[in-house]
Amino acid sequence: MASLPDPVPNVQQLLAFYLEAGVDCALAEEPVDHLADPDAAPPGREAAPVQPVRTIAAMLPTARIEAAPAPEAAIALARETARTAPTLEALRGLLEKFDGCALKHTATRLVFADGNPNARVMFVGEAPGREEDLEGLPFVGRSGKLLDRMIATIGLDRSKAYIANVIPWRPPGNRTPTPQETQICLPFIQRQIELVNPDILVTLGNPSTQTLLSTREGIMRTRGRWFDYDTGTRVIRAMATFHPAYLLRSPSYKRMAWQDLRAIAKALEQAGSPSS
Ligand code: URA
Repeated sequence: MASLPDPVPNVQQLLAFYLEAGVDCALAEEPVDHLADPDAAPPGREAAPVQPVRTIAAMLPTARIEAAPAPEAAIALARETARTAPTLEALRGLLEKFDGCALKHTATRLVFADGNPNARVMFVGEAPGREEDLEGLPFVGRSGKLLDRMIATIGLDRSKAYIANVIPWRPPGNRTPTPQETQICLPFIQRQIELVNPDILVTLGNPSTQTLLSTREGIMRTRGRWFDYDTGTRVIRAMATFHPAYLLRSPSYKRMAWQDLRAIAKALEQAGSPSS
């Protein structure tokens, strides 16, 4: 007996399928050749217009892709811009206006930070994921819930800790940020650390550790070790530990993460005044 043809999905089912498959960010109707010279459209064909960026979940226009400055110019601009921020609020405002990083145009919103700016301990992850992008807050998805449970084991919560990422915009589809994107965002997180001025800086996972602590060693070697983080005005004690997303995939490492957290709690105690 001949089988019935599959029913043709409607648009809603198709979008639900894309979301399920992890495709949650549509950049354009058609693929764009970013290497093509925009002035050299083939005869008879107009150069492709700049397309609006849309998240599939909302299917709402959010931003337009602008020509980003060359990476070196963007890094120089980021350094110059971040350096001038006198406060965290000013830094957030400058980042909102900063156009040197293309990730801004595919993200729904800036994910600046969460927690207490006067906290004695600051945690820094890599980059926001889908939930963070939608809420505009770092570590609110599954790995964020685990981070909350991890810091609770040493008596901390978001009123006693400050949380941010090296990259403040979600890379599309959660791809790894490029080295250029990381270098462009670096001056902003460096200035953020300087302004928060915590007693202890905790880098979560390899990318954050390697970027902020200037090491090429992997997290298996760096975790649990103390580093010096020099803001230029003060040397802050820094500890690397596993990223909670990694611990969700490899729960057997939770024991080591717990040891790292114990060391952080002890260092906070030794440094004197109670956590704010
Ligand atoms: N992973 C990160 O590194 N940061 C977040 O904010 C969420 C997940």
